[in-house]
Amino acid sequence: MLARTGSMKERLAMHNANALKIGMFGSNCSSSRTATKAKERWSASWPDCLKLGQMGDEAGIDFMLPIGRWKGYGGDTDFHGSTLETMTWACGLLASTKRITVFGTIHAPLFNPIIAAKEFVTADQIGEGRFGLNIVAGWNEGEFEMFGVEQRDHETRYEYATEWIEAVKRAWSEPGTFDFEGRFLKLKGVRAFPKPFGGTRPLIMNAGSSGTGQAFALKNCDAFFTATSDIRVSLEAAAKKVQEVKAQARALGREIEVYTVGQVVCRATQKEADEFYHYANIENADWGAVERMLELRNITRKNFSPEEYEAKRKFFAGVSIGGFPYIGTPDKVAEELATVGRAGLRGIAISFVNYLDDLPLFRDEVLPRLERMGLREPQHMAAAG
Ligand SMILES: Cc1cc2nc3c(=O)[nH]c(=O)nc-3n(C[C@H](O)[C@H](O)[C@H](O)COP(=O)(O)O)c2cc1C
Repeated sequence: MLARTGSMKERLAMHNANALKIGMFGSNCSSSRTATKAKERWSASWPDCLKLGQMGDEAGIDFMLPIGRWKGYGGDTDFHGSTLETMTWACGLLASTKRITVFGTIHAPLFNPIIAAKEFVTADQIGEGRFGLNIVAGWNEGEFEMFGVEQRDHETRYEYATEWIEAVKRAWSEPGTFDFEGRFLKLKGVRAFPKPFGGTRPLIMNAGSSGTGQAFALKNCDAFFTATSDIRVSLEAAAKKVQEVKAQARALGREIEVYTVGQVVCRATQKEADEFYHYANIENADWGAVERMLELRNITRKNFSPEEYEAKRKFFAGVSIGGFPYIGTPDKVAEELATVGRAGLRGIAISFVNYLDDLPLFRDEVLPRLERMGLREPQHMAAAG
């Protein structure tokens, strides 16, 4: 393996030549991205996360993206009731892997930016340039109450996040002592060493879905994650969305990569895949948790007709929580993921009902198909490079 320099180019490419990056999303949270009572649901225990990180690293998976979640959503399983804190989780994984990029997901309002900047540097030094930062401005009231922190209104939340990331970037780059005088943050005599690996900085992503959230990402981040349904309508609609985002970034003099999210149920036959998806997402849905998540989005039985509410409940359990589902044989899943790449998306963060059960088939059957389609480099080359 060549020595890593930690250049921004290497970091953005996640240290390999794969055109379509594939990551695993949400494995630090119990049940991950499927609110299910199925016995196969994900534990998110450290031994399972470690096994998964190492399996993913060897398989050539590009990144692991955790969810910043502090409080479960209730229901029979208390969906996301058990979660590993993302920075400490990332450090453990970075120390135990060689190639994979690992993100930490940080709620800007909950972390002092100078402490956070040092945590990021520490993770980045451990991973030799493989740490990435997912900034979250916050949306879940109940989580903030738990910290005694009041949630700012939506616009102000992003103004604060803008200042916060500026302070972090200065701590990463200032060669000496500095003061930071912002509207929210007033920091005196800041000195922060060491700097990130290779004298550059970690890759930064954000997943705001509103206009303000998207504008924040364009201005401050390298990668923008979108869960918009445009991506699955058609190749043309997805390509249009990607071009729009990239053009808006260019108007600001910036380059940004667009990523999306999805859930994968891959089985040898379409019938098996469809049956498992139905079993996990619908028959065994944890409806209490699904309803709580809908309530947080102000979707309740009071403000929708019974038919509309039922449709939303089903849609949320089946499609929305985990992102659009890629369900089928290796041929079908590979073809649909290839479409994501052909539309100009840089990558996709996927989840499985049970990562350790489901990754081996994906690794053995879907990844080689994507290699043959030219979207990913052959594994022996990735390991050598
Ligand atoms: C890929 C992806 C990852 C996200 N990760 C988190 C997370 O870990 N924790 C969290 O509280 N919100 C997370 N969110 C929610 C977003 O940060 C954001 O709050 C949401 O998309 C609403 O956007 P807005 O702030 O522009 O209204 C994520 C969203 C997406 C699409």
